[in-house]
Amino acid sequence: CQLKMKEFWFRSWNAVCPLVAKLKRFYEFSLRLENALRSLLEALTSPPYAPMQHLEREQALAKQFAEILHFTLSFDELKMTNPAIQNDFSYYRRTISRNRLNNQQLDAENEVNNEMANRMSLFYAEATPMLKTLSNATTKFVSENKTLPIEDTTDCLSTMACVCRVMLETPEYRCRFTNTDTMLFCMRVMVGVIILYDHVHPVGAFAKTSKIDMKGCIKVLKEQDSNSVEGLLNALRYTTRHLNDDSTSKQIRAMLQ
Ligand SMILES: *[C@@H]1O[C@H](CO)[C@@H](O)[C@H](O)[C@H]1NC(C)=O
Ligand SMILES: *[C@@H]1O[C@H](CO)[C@@H](O)[C@H](O)[C@H]1NC(C)=O
Repeated sequence: CQLKMKEFWFRSWNAVCPLVAKLKRFYEFSLRLENALRSLLEALTSPPYAPMQHLEREQALAKQFAEILHFTLSFDELKMTNPAIQNDFSYYRRTISRNRLNNQQLDAENEVNNEMANRMSLFYAEATPMLKTLSNATTKFVSENKTLPIEDTTDCLSTMACVCRVMLETPEYRCRFTNTDTMLFCMRVMVGVIILYDHVHPVGAFAKTSKIDMKGCIKVLKEQDSNSVEGLLNALRYTTRHLNDDSTSKQIRAMLQ
């Protein structure tokens, strides 16, 4: 029986270690993403051009931004549908701290030590960790940069939301979505910039004064024939900040119910 327990322990431990190494890589990637987003926002908002001009002039940058948002929402969608991630990670942490009490150090600890495990645990405790990283970084960028009007950043986001909405709405474009990946890309980017806008803008994306046509965006999202629609609607429901504000119209609330 003792032997069986030990074997069981080894097997679970050996299964969990590669997973933890992977979780660490994604956590480290989120830190790089934060820096990349900062440089992108700097480039997309630097004078003398208006956001729309930047997006036109620097399409490669806009594309990078879109790729980042696309990755972010795909990652968070996977994270939300795999609650086992957190359980496995807790198991890992419990095991290394128990071994520390016994003065044993496990090989895996060289890779993810206690301090790193604590930071990762805070990261994976977020419902949507990557999105939280981006919205934290955007908020930080805006608040640290006193000379930059907040509208420069939010206009850039609302312009991208508009481009995506129009692409999804326009039948001529739709026919050209030869693969569903492009459509999914547009949907994810649209939702990503809406959420960022809502976190960064003082009154958010749902208010009447918002530069994003929220009704249009939600409507076109619901019309898409994709398994990802519900997840993206949930992202709008649960990861935005201002949806439940008084300034949000009943109609928009009803559309997201
Ligand atoms: C403020 O924003 C401008 C324009 O995007 C950028 O060039 C500058 O580096 C930013 N400054 C800080 C302190 O982030
Ligand atoms: C976002 O910022 C808050 C407040 O500073 C912090 O507690 C949280 O850990 C950050 N989350 C991520 C994923 O960076």
